[in-house]
Amino acid sequence: MRRHALASIAACFTLAACSSRAPRETAHVPASWRYANVAPPVVAEHAMVVSEHPIASRIGADVMQRGGNSIDAAVAVSFTLAVVHPRAGNIGGGGFLVYRAASGEVAALDYRETAPAAATRDMFLDSAGNLTERSVIGPLAAGVPGVVAGLAAMHARYGHLPWRDLVIPAVELARQGFVVDSVRALTYAEQAPKLRRFPYTASLYLPGGQPPAPGDTLRQPDLARTLQLIADSGAPSFYGGRVADLIVAQMRRSGGLITHADLAAYRAKWREPIQGSYRGWGIISMPPSSSGGVTLVEILNILEGYRRLPPFGSAALIHLETEAMRRAFTDRNRHLGDPDFVEMPIARLTSKVYAAQLQRSIARSRATPSAELPAAIDSRETTHFSIVDPEGNAVAVTTTPNSFFGSKVAVTGAGFVLNNTMDDFAATPGAPNQFGLVQGEVNAIAPGKRPLSAMTPTIVTDPHGHLALVLGSPGGPRIISAVCQVISNVIDHGMTLAQAVSAPRIHHQGLPDSLLWEQGGLPPEARRELEAMGHQFHQHPETLGDVSAIRVTKSGLEGVADPRRGGGAAGN
Ligand code: DON
Repeated sequence: MRRHALASIAACFTLAACSSRAPRETAHVPASWRYANVAPPVVAEHAMVVSEHPIASRIGADVMQRGGNSIDAAVAVSFTLAVVHPRAGNIGGGGFLVYRAASGEVAALDYRETAPAAATRDMFLDSAGNLTERSVIGPLAAGVPGVVAGLAAMHARYGHLPWRDLVIPAVELARQGFVVDSVRALTYAEQAPKLRRFPYTASLYLPGGQPPAPGDTLRQPDLARTLQLIADSGAPSFYGGRVADLIVAQMRRSGGLITHADLAAYRAKWREPIQGSYRGWGIISMPPSSSGGVTLVEILNILEGYRRLPPFGSAALIHLETEAMRRAFTDRNRHLGDPDFVEMPIARLTSKVYAAQLQRSIARSRATPSAELPAAIDSRETTHFSIVDPEGNAVAVTTTPNSFFGSKVAVTGAGFVLNNTMDDFAATPGAPNQFGLVQGEVNAIAPGKRPLSAMTPTIVTDPHGHLALVLGSPGGPRIISAVCQVISNVIDHGMTLAQAVSAPRIHHQGLPDSLLWEQGGLPPEARRELEAMGHQFHQHPETLGDVSAIRVTKSGLEGVADPRRGGGAAGN
């Protein structure tokens, strides 16, 4: 692993000084921005993994050093994240893969959770019709997990090394333990009150009743046994063997819905990726059941209508980005759902003609209230990793149990938590979910259906058709806006990848009609101008997303882990 030459230069956002590309502007990043000192990327010649945990990235890079390809590395990284980053890495949740082979072949794998057969449209409402917390916490929140089936499906189609070899590093980490770092220790402490509501869950992540401190070793013997079974017998052990028995027993004990039949019926599904373009660069991203690719392409298409975007950090730029996001998210919430259940106007939503129509409705200096947007067409905790292997095959995977530690219900004896992805459905169409998303009928609960996701694993090719960027993020709906801004920062603002990832971000999702920003990242004068245009500022989340990204440069691969949440890059 070599450090880039930039390490010796005082890192900064003044593009004239730092960018390898021709400078076009000086980015306006306030001095108060906590990530103003941009860390240099990790640079490698052959292969690169960027994930939200340095141990997982190292294991992925080692797999490729042993002759594995990017899919082999993805399988190993995913299982490792389930051990070392269990708030988000998981085997009890679901995920999405976007893949681009060096040959140019593209593929997308949907291993999103499905609603159990016994799920009903109003299952999260009380007798008075009010939404309960049961879609977020407890056994009913869990959809049928897709991760193990997804990893097995991608390995069966593209894997090179034996499956067992890819699972064993995670088995060993679970059995022998790993050292908890300060970022993860904070999460265990913050989540402790919720984890304590479920004694077995607490026994996994609060050994001795207390959250592990930085430097403590966390061992997970039950998870090690589960992973060993998966290593030895593959996905059937999860969907039909001992693990399935433990999941169903947990459901019976605690009042959940998942049955043996639900597990046996689960299938990961190959889908056609969403493909778009932005100023001549190619965009390859996730189709429904994730809204990520459609919404990303719709936002970028609207922005492309402006020949040149205003400077980074200006009110004028934030206004245009906000208006594009507002329109694309409104369409997302109205039109998108599980493709196996609903018809969607995807070709229209991703067309340049439709984007031009939306762009014409954006006033240069006035916010459009989301409530005024016409129906234009008839009809907390995720993790992302990016991989490029020595052949140039690229993998973008985003996976989640949804919230931190999912439903908080762990499968007794099996050592892992189940997701709370049922909350991604519109439990009451028209009422907000935990991310404030107000979604429609198309995303109502139905047996066997996949809830609409915002996960946006994305691959970008340059105007010559060569692999350029691999990226994605956690953050619920904020994933889409984070991915969009990093792409625009590189293409429109000439930032290096490290600058593009560190730069402050904004987010708008239509409803609530509120412009989110990161503390210290919005210049005060820009905020004043935006308020004068009618933009509303209610809350500022700590951070917006956590991007794990790779850029292909002439001199090799640059890996950038977002400074926001303690990720890491590893290459060789
Ligand atoms: O699929 C989705 O859109 C959500 N389940 C993602 C949740 C998430 O990213 C939470 N992470 N911070």
